[in-house]
Amino acid sequence: MSNTAHDDEWVRKPASASVGTNCTAAQYDSMYAESLADPDRFWAAQADRLDWIKRPTKIAGWNYDPVDIRWFEDGKLNICHNAVDRHVAAGHGDRVALIFEPDSPDAEGRHITYAQLQTEVIRMANTLKKLGAKKGDRVTIYMPMIPEGVFAMLACARIGAIHSVIFGGFSPDAIAGRVEDCESDWIVTADQGLRGSKIVPLKANVDEALEKVSVKAVLVVRHTGGEIAMREGRDHWYHEVSQGVDDECPCEPMDAEDPLFILYTSGSTGSPKGVLHTTGGYAVWTETTFRYVFDYRPGEVFWCTADIGWVTGHSYIVYGPLQNGATALMFEGVPNYPDHDRFWAACEKHKVNIFYTAPTAIRALMREGEAHVAKHDLSSLRLIGSVGEPINPEAWRWYHEHVGAGAVPVIDTWWQTETGGVMITTLPGAHDMKPGSAGLPFFGICPQLVDNDGDVLEGAAAGNLCITRSWPGQARTVYGDHDRFIQTYFSTYAGKYFTGDGCRRDADGYYWITGRVDDVINVSGHRMGTAEVESALVLHAYVSEAAVVGYPHDIKGQGIYCYVTLKVGEEPSEELAGELRQWVRKEIGPIATPDHLHFTPALPKTRSGKIMRRILRKIAENDFGSLGDTSTLADPSVVETLIEGRQNR
Ligand code: PRX
Repeated sequence: MSNTAHDDEWVRKPASASVGTNCTAAQYDSMYAESLADPDRFWAAQADRLDWIKRPTKIAGWNYDPVDIRWFEDGKLNICHNAVDRHVAAGHGDRVALIFEPDSPDAEGRHITYAQLQTEVIRMANTLKKLGAKKGDRVTIYMPMIPEGVFAMLACARIGAIHSVIFGGFSPDAIAGRVEDCESDWIVTADQGLRGSKIVPLKANVDEALEKVSVKAVLVVRHTGGEIAMREGRDHWYHEVSQGVDDECPCEPMDAEDPLFILYTSGSTGSPKGVLHTTGGYAVWTETTFRYVFDYRPGEVFWCTADIGWVTGHSYIVYGPLQNGATALMFEGVPNYPDHDRFWAACEKHKVNIFYTAPTAIRALMREGEAHVAKHDLSSLRLIGSVGEPINPEAWRWYHEHVGAGAVPVIDTWWQTETGGVMITTLPGAHDMKPGSAGLPFFGICPQLVDNDGDVLEGAAAGNLCITRSWPGQARTVYGDHDRFIQTYFSTYAGKYFTGDGCRRDADGYYWITGRVDDVINVSGHRMGTAEVESALVLHAYVSEAAVVGYPHDIKGQGIYCYVTLKVGEEPSEELAGELRQWVRKEIGPIATPDHLHFTPALPKTRSGKIMRRILRKIAENDFGSLGDTSTLADPSVVETLIEGRQNR
């Protein structure tokens, strides 16, 4: 099996009888052409599948200079109504909306119908109201992967509150920063989470965060039943405070451009940004992408293995599937517990039809061997997908051959927190695939490659990936900091949205994402700013300076390599290295744990004091034979010392 990507390696889509017929190649061509020629007509037609309180007459209303993005502006709707109530009203109340697969395969799972979902969401919504939350308020959700996390999101949407979901793996400091940034007065959490039988102390983390910031109320869902502290007047058990709430709660009529959620994500500089998505455009975008990309058919079971703390969970566990009336599987645990066959055991058990995961999980499972897959009957699978980072062709082929029986189409979906939903992918019934390439733009998407000077590259070329026109699911701003939004995405190449990714387009027009071109790294599909890890390190009393870079890692995609200079008088040691690793875990969360810590007396800097990261990246990659020009360094001898001390040998 080779791990190289070839522009001419085609994997043919299965005969149309056995896959999606929602969109053939000819239909894709004509729909894509129409989406560009007449976006208003195209998107009005897509929007028509939703229930609107007031149907929009203004469809696309955006400008990239100055940046002002609006879609369906004069429409009114509620996304919770579209995800829940309208299916019940249409007589589908008995259909299963969520299948909950718990951490332990021996624990009891749940099947939640649309009617039950409606009841649960109303209960949560009225409880939030009882605690004082209302339209426009920010509600933080810090939950394990249990259905109550979805109830909480939908409950916010129902009452018009803006949810800010924080991944359950983040630290108390990360929670505090996010709660403070969006001035959130409510937190919904659980006593504890479970991941691979390990306990995640969610409520204890919230308590620690609340030593730094304060909120009006914390709503606590009892999950493990573990011992936790409850502060009188501030903390409320969900099962207690929800007692006796009304069993009706009308969906709040929302303007299409009313905020739906904030989701914090990392960039090159500064602390994570609160990316803001609004109601109408995001609703249409997630409904449409789910429908076409996953070629969803009624009755099928869809499983996206992401966490609701990431955008993938927002769009393809919650809003995309539920707006389509789909059955979404929600998994609390991890792929290797109790054994490396957990994904496949759950696919077999629930007869999963569409499976969507991240390359890092595929690589980790591939390493354990195909016997874990072969043990299970995966004949229900009709489509398998990948998201979050570039998938190397070897992992793609393994996924296709062993999980997809060499027959099931693989979709490699490129998108971002900021894009709200899938942007580049092959469509299963329409397109042949190429291992390692995401494929073609989705309806309405105009990718453009530019060189570092901003000159547009035509035809087969490699460059920086921009998008030249807005699409309904585009983020509208950074919460509370529109200038930062403009600065981050629209200033590098004026008048275009810059994705931060490098990309190649081949002669067939297929796009190949090559990874970030900024100081963002992607570790096991988790997006992280190197600057965040650096800030965490320099908070330690012994650290004088830190520079963090990514390097290729077999399983994680990228690993975290930290160069650290200590304050005068402090000595490097194994013990201190261990302490710094723990320190970063505590400051940010376990996902940011450094893989390599390299103590160095100095960092390579130019005479003006700028750290030459290019050199640090090369040494971290163990590729110091091609360091390029080092003559502009203030002290070129630093490089020799760094090479000698390299950790990734
Ligand atoms: O670098 C790209 C990578 O993940 C980044 C976005 O991360 P995040 O906002 O956390 O969203 C991840 C899930 C949508 C992108 O800038 N990325 C995402 N999907 C792919 C990818 N890189 C290559 N191929 C993909 N399919």
